[in-house]
Amino acid sequence: MYYSDEVIEEVRSKNDIVDVISGYVRLQKKGRDYFGLCPFHNEKSPSFSVSRQKQMYYCFGCGAGGNVFTFLMEYENYSFAEALKFLADRAGVELPRQEFSREAKERADTRAVLLEINKLAAQYYYVQLKNVQGEHALSYLKNRELSDDTIRAFGLGYSNKYSDDLYRYLKSRGYQTDMISKAGLISVDEKQSVYDKFWNRVMFPIMDVNSRVIGFGGRVMGDGKPKYLNSPETMIFDKSRNLYGLNRARSSKKPYFLLCEGYMDVISLHQAGFTNAVASLGTALTPGHASLIKRYVKEVYLTYDSDGAGTKAALRAVPILKEAGITARVIRMEPYKDPDEFIKNLGAEAFEERIGKARNGFMFALEILEQDYDLRSPEGKTDFMREAARRLTEFEEEIERNNYIEAVAQAYHVGYEDLRKLVVREAVRTGLASPVQRPKSGSVRSEGKKDGIATSQKILLTWLIEDESIFRQIEPYISPEDFSEGLLRTVAGLVYEQYGTGEVNPAKIMNHFTDEEEHREAASLFHTKIRELTTQREQEKALKETIIRVKSHSIDEAARNLAPSDMAGLQRLMNAKRELQDIQKLHISVN
Ligand code: UTP
Ligand code: MN
Repeated sequence: MYYSDEVIEEVRSKNDIVDVISGYVRLQKKGRDYFGLCPFHNEKSPSFSVSRQKQMYYCFGCGAGGNVFTFLMEYENYSFAEALKFLADRAGVELPRQEFSREAKERADTRAVLLEINKLAAQYYYVQLKNVQGEHALSYLKNRELSDDTIRAFGLGYSNKYSDDLYRYLKSRGYQTDMISKAGLISVDEKQSVYDKFWNRVMFPIMDVNSRVIGFGGRVMGDGKPKYLNSPETMIFDKSRNLYGLNRARSSKKPYFLLCEGYMDVISLHQAGFTNAVASLGTALTPGHASLIKRYVKEVYLTYDSDGAGTKAALRAVPILKEAGITARVIRMEPYKDPDEFIKNLGAEAFEERIGKARNGFMFALEILEQDYDLRSPEGKTDFMREAARRLTEFEEEIERNNYIEAVAQAYHVGYEDLRKLVVREAVRTGLASPVQRPKSGSVRSEGKKDGIATSQKILLTWLIEDESIFRQIEPYISPEDFSEGLLRTVAGLVYEQYGTGEVNPAKIMNHFTDEEEHREAASLFHTKIRELTTQREQEKALKETIIRVKSHSIDEAARNLAPSDMAGLQRLMNAKRELQDIQKLHISVN
């Protein structure tokens, strides 16, 4: 990143977290901390806490947490640099300009100009829609049953019939041709004649999550081709990283998104009260979309078109969402083509019912698969079940797999045990599992173990940060090197360093992580849920077990990587083993 640690820390320390968050959330002081309703999930009683002393926030309900930068990154969806800039302005800290490289500065300037141009264009199209030239377009939208409020909320507009009207307007506002071209709004031919890209179309501005216009989709009013013309990808418009409607859906309090295919679907759904609808921008769903969605919800209901193409798109989207850790369900629109038509014909309540009846993504895929088999013939059904079993082998977690085996057995009227055996046989046949019951180094098992140890390390870190007396007791036995390489070890190192200087300040540690993904991950480290342990005795026992787990894992790793001739390494290992024995005898007290 472009800013020094000193600058970042200056900005952070000049923005008291309680003051900043008070601008967004009504906080009440209770004891040392402040409490309010969590802005990141829907709740009726306050579980969102802010600590002035630690300069951190945390929600006991949904687990959101971090420092003042994290809060703005989550709430406003700022990048780290944007959050820094916002808070620097707020506190009157001048950010050093020269820390931007020249190219970075130029790029940032160009992006800012492109955003201005797009915003002006959207305003221009909106005005066109509302004046005489736009009558036709306005009645088109009215025919599609859009209200004035909806038209305003989505900033819909009209590009008129003149071939360079927008271009001339933008020039008159002082913008250079090459910038307007970079914004994707005009094309220039060999003779240097300039044409607006959009003519005589209803315009749908596409906004990023912060409601900044980054591009347009333009629809013909009739049967012309193409039905929708879209802005090309530009410096500010990346189709695979933006979703139509996200700027509004992000503040819907539903715990899931409705993911549909079209602009009109999103608009109709919002108008009908489903303000959690989003759509990918005329492209298939990408992993980029999925990780964007994951920032807001853990569950997605796909409401794709009911035709063959829509079904295929849904089948492709399910595994992409699953990969990102999002549960997918599929809503069927039959007998209508898409959510827009469905709502128009059957209304919002009927749609709500369909949401209730949505099928889980895996079961949906099986239902589609049925069409390739003749389930009434014994061979057909056997082949089908075999393929179903093969797909079931893809669930790595045993509990999940068994749950699905149960669901499939029930849906297709076969015995649970029979199906389970078939799944095992398929797993062996396709080489996913070895016939030996307990594989020594099954990849699935060691993956699970890796997650487990990461959790133990996170819990230990949370404890170390929470309580200095615990740190003092543990310090002789556990060092940052006992944590796994990467984020965990870096944070552990910083915590130990801070205890060394006598000032433990988790909010300051967070400064260290300026990459958005890393920042979020680091924030989660400080709030790993320590299971609701009631008694002090239980807590002490759990803490000790955690320490032992972390230390043993670290010893195992060291032993595995030890070269036979490394005598010093061997000595360290012996010491570590002795320490482990000491820990086992140790009494650790928790207040
Ligand atoms: P649809 O053809 O389903 O259109 O395309 P729609 O959204 O239902 O629109 P109406 O109701 O006919 O007006 C779904 C999405 O695919 C993209 C657009 O994003 C559209 O919303 N698309 C479609 C294009 O980009 N270009 C096209 O020519 C067609
Ligand atoms: Mn439609």
